[in-house]
Amino acid sequence: MDCCCCTYIYAFIAIAVLLYLLKKWIRQGEYTKPTLIDNKIVIITGANTGIGKETAIDLAKRGGKIYIACRNKTRGESALVDIRRESGSDKVYFLQLDLASLKSIREFSNKFHQLESKLDILINNAGVMACPKSFTEDKFETQIGTNHLGHFLLTNLLLDLLKSSAPSRIVNVSSRAHERGEIYRDDLMLDRSYSPLKAYSQSKLANVLFTRKLAKDLQGTKVIVNSCHPGVVTTELARHFPGIVQFIMYTIFKTFLKTPVEGAQTQIRLAIDPDLETVTGKYFYDCEEHEPSTAAKDDETAEWLWKKSAELVRF
Ligand SMILES: *[C@@H]1O[C@H](CO)[C@@H](O)[C@H](O)[C@H]1NC(C)=O
Ligand SMILES: *[C@@H]1O[C@H](CO)[C@@H](O)[C@H](O)[C@H]1NC(C)=O
Repeated sequence: MDCCCCTYIYAFIAIAVLLYLLKKWIRQGEYTKPTLIDNKIVIITGANTGIGKETAIDLAKRGGKIYIACRNKTRGESALVDIRRESGSDKVYFLQLDLASLKSIREFSNKFHQLESKLDILINNAGVMACPKSFTEDKFETQIGTNHLGHFLLTNLLLDLLKSSAPSRIVNVSSRAHERGEIYRDDLMLDRSYSPLKAYSQSKLANVLFTRKLAKDLQGTKVIVNSCHPGVVTTELARHFPGIVQFIMYTIFKTFLKTPVEGAQTQIRLAIDPDLETVTGKYFYDCEEHEPSTAAKDDETAEWLWKKSAELVRF
């Protein structure tokens, strides 16, 4: 072989190896323990698709009784069929819940209290990402309204059951987008200046702030609460991105994104790993604990947001 050709071959191999390592690095983190959760009752919000659905399948396989809580009845019930089939468990149920409606959240909580007298694991997984400016039924900007205020009310309404079932766990699915987030105290609904990503980052920072504040309030109750970032996952979350961005994400970068199964690993670990029994108020990604952003550790803002949120949802 002549040298010129060898150089190309070496370069090709080097690039292939680098891409392979990059892929492994981006897609790392897996929960491999055979933990069983027989008799545990679990609620997962937004479990009709993506990582929520994969989390439901995984936890159902491990023996848990799973309630999937989502907005659309048709989609929820069709997800239910898939989850039962793929997990081989029939202890999976659907309850309608629209996190963009305080009324729906209260109805959900009442119904759940009638059905069950305990709750072991609550996974606040549902989220809307980077949608155009819009408002919830209660006139909240959609992303802070759904991702934060909706889960805020839901968590508080279910806290009695979580406490009486302790040791129990709350998992809040946030995102690394929280690192770019800021809490706009005098314009929480972004009336004055809206951008989809700004609203998303604010709502995800709110998730991390709340996890820390709640963990502090729950000290001594054996209810633990942690937040996580699932990784960049190929789900429908990007459905509000422009078509060209979706096209690029899904085709060219697909091998570098986590699959929903891979993205579910961190929240599965937080929900059931026996080694985490006393770990609370922390932030995880790739299945391991990491430091959240500086803004996410601002306890004063967390206090302010808690009060403001309680006022907004009238809790
Ligand atoms: C629920 O989902 C179905 C199937 O995707 C869709 O046809 C229907 O319009 C949705 N309903 C609502 C209220 O969004
Ligand atoms: C999870 O995040 C939501 C939204 O920020 C918050 O309202 C709720 O209290 C959080 N739950 C926990 C346990 O931190």
